[in-house]
Amino acid sequence: MTSSIVSVSKETRVFPPPGEFAAAARVGSLEAYTAMYRRSIDDPAGFWGEQAAELFWFDAPKTIRQWDPPKARWFEGGTTNLAYNCLDRHVAAGAGDRTALIWEGEPGEVRRVSYAELLRETCRCADALRKLGIAAGDRVVIYMGMVPEAVIAMLACARIGAVHSVIFGGFASDAVRDRVNDAGAKLIITQDGAWRRGKIVPLWDNVEHALRSCPSVEHTVVLRRTGNPITLSPGRDVEWTDALATASSQLEAVPLPAEHPLFILYTSGTTGKPKGVMHTTGGYMVGAHVTTKYVFDLHDDDIYWCTADIGWVTGHSYIVYGPLCNRATVLMYEGAPNHPDVDRLWEMIARHRVTIFYTAPTAIRAFIRWGDEHPRKHDLSSLRLLGSVGEPINPEAWMWYRDVIGGGRCPIVDTWWQTETGAIMMAPLPGAIAAKPGSCTLPFFGIVPKILRQDGTEAAPNEGGFLVIEQPWPSMLRTVWGDDERFRETYFSRFPGKYFTGDGARRDPDGYFWVMGRVDDVVNVAGHRLGTAEIESVLVAHPDVAEAAVVGRPDELKGQALVAFVTLKAGRAPTDAVREALAEHVSAEIGKFARPDSIRFADALPKTRSGKIMRRLLGELATGQAPRGDVTTLEDISVLAALRGDDE
Ligand code: WT7
Repeated sequence: MTSSIVSVSKETRVFPPPGEFAAAARVGSLEAYTAMYRRSIDDPAGFWGEQAAELFWFDAPKTIRQWDPPKARWFEGGTTNLAYNCLDRHVAAGAGDRTALIWEGEPGEVRRVSYAELLRETCRCADALRKLGIAAGDRVVIYMGMVPEAVIAMLACARIGAVHSVIFGGFASDAVRDRVNDAGAKLIITQDGAWRRGKIVPLWDNVEHALRSCPSVEHTVVLRRTGNPITLSPGRDVEWTDALATASSQLEAVPLPAEHPLFILYTSGTTGKPKGVMHTTGGYMVGAHVTTKYVFDLHDDDIYWCTADIGWVTGHSYIVYGPLCNRATVLMYEGAPNHPDVDRLWEMIARHRVTIFYTAPTAIRAFIRWGDEHPRKHDLSSLRLLGSVGEPINPEAWMWYRDVIGGGRCPIVDTWWQTETGAIMMAPLPGAIAAKPGSCTLPFFGIVPKILRQDGTEAAPNEGGFLVIEQPWPSMLRTVWGDDERFRETYFSRFPGKYFTGDGARRDPDGYFWVMGRVDDVVNVAGHRLGTAEIESVLVAHPDVAEAAVVGRPDELKGQALVAFVTLKAGRAPTDAVREALAEHVSAEIGKFARPDSIRFADALPKTRSGKIMRRLLGELATGQAPRGDVTTLEDISVLAALRGDDE
């Protein structure tokens, strides 16, 4: 494992910001970006002090940044409140009537919530939580669907300093139990059920089952959404409407120290027990605020839509805290993208006149698979900016996104970041930085990414290596909840004093970063260390292929042999001729050494609930082993069975 990672991507297309876009943008040229970036690096305290000053503090910060690796403290001496900054600040400035949320339920109802109303409801929820015994520092689990009350619950926790831990509504009972117990939560906020593809996800049943082994939980608050029959235990469980009925709609936001914990979010660690990533108030607030403002180039008349679930960090930072801090109007959708039909999202963009649309490559590949005719049926001309997050976006998917969804006119911001980073770390500022399909381009203000070799020296241009971040940034995780040692070990031991992202990447001669995926997703074939994402990207560029995952299996001769799992586009048949053509295609595009030794066709690939392909499972299948380890994050267990039965 001493060799570096070979990057085989040959992408050369460049798309500068459209002139009209740049003219109206917050940062309108590469020079302007470079000057701001330089300043943020040369004088971090000055730069971040100014960013913090755009927000409200009860007491202004005294020390901007303290760095004693791996421990960072930001805005020490300052006290603030994130809910105040998302709500009261705008209402006080006269924007109470402005729409904060446009919410659309899966069955089709639409609800508009103004900033003033969101503030009132947040106060009522916060007061209800207090009356149920919740105080600053207590942990509250939020296990809900995509309803406005989930946002209200998060803001209510932030208002009184309770630490929320949102658990994605797709998780089953055991996963809920483990997270509740790890966090030591006193209260769970949930629903009778959530709508998903016309069916009810029984959230309450899952909670009730988990509660048999969650001794820390004293109360639950249950929102009626679907009418799914539920049985509550008086004294322990209370309905949302009852809890809020007598609560005050005017509850002062609590001044909290900058380093007061804001939330814990469990990441779907591929092995072992989930990690509770902990973020704190002041630094996270400043990071979410400033990245939303510049990366999405928010303007007052934007209708902003991020399709993530609030159970993921993308939902925390770019549905709730970042946009609301910026007084944005946020579209929030409850249900599935293919309900009642596969054009639901495009129909919604046209009807709500959405201007900014932020989604994930896994979704984009599904849209491609469903067919161009669906977006083409709708008027998408309101869109002015597109975003991508979650994994490397294949250049072909990027081009499709640009042409078919963006009409060739919208810049695309490919945003690289992690649950741990709290906020976007690299992305093209859309009015300033030319995009290259598949590259997250250049670092955001204050961020110092480096590509290192195994021995810690810096990689040369275009040489693949390990992606690290050298300086602290305000929204970085502070620890793994209850496990400082794991925090140190996971992120700061490989390259002492530097934050290790776990990703492999290269930097091209223009200084652009190309993230190749997790370093665990690297194969070593005949001495070449290859990022599997790049081989997958080549496969997906073939006209027959919808999705691909490449893994290694031990091979006496080559070290590792390459096994490709491929799903074909609708209507293409999985024949030997196609298999041969795909192998030839990879061989021609990358080189003979990268030719897959075996190609297996599948109807679907195993994915985590956040849409990441579970290559570890595929690796085990490719080796002929039964899958070991944690499969609780797998979205659809039946996919595994189908793959196991299938062979070349
Ligand atoms: C990992 C973080 C950040 C919110 C959603 C995922 C991969 C994320 C990109 C991108 C290439 C990306 C990385 C990263 N990733 N965005 N734009 N280009 N890779 O959060 O579940 O914490 O996953 O997702 O591998 O480390 P997460």
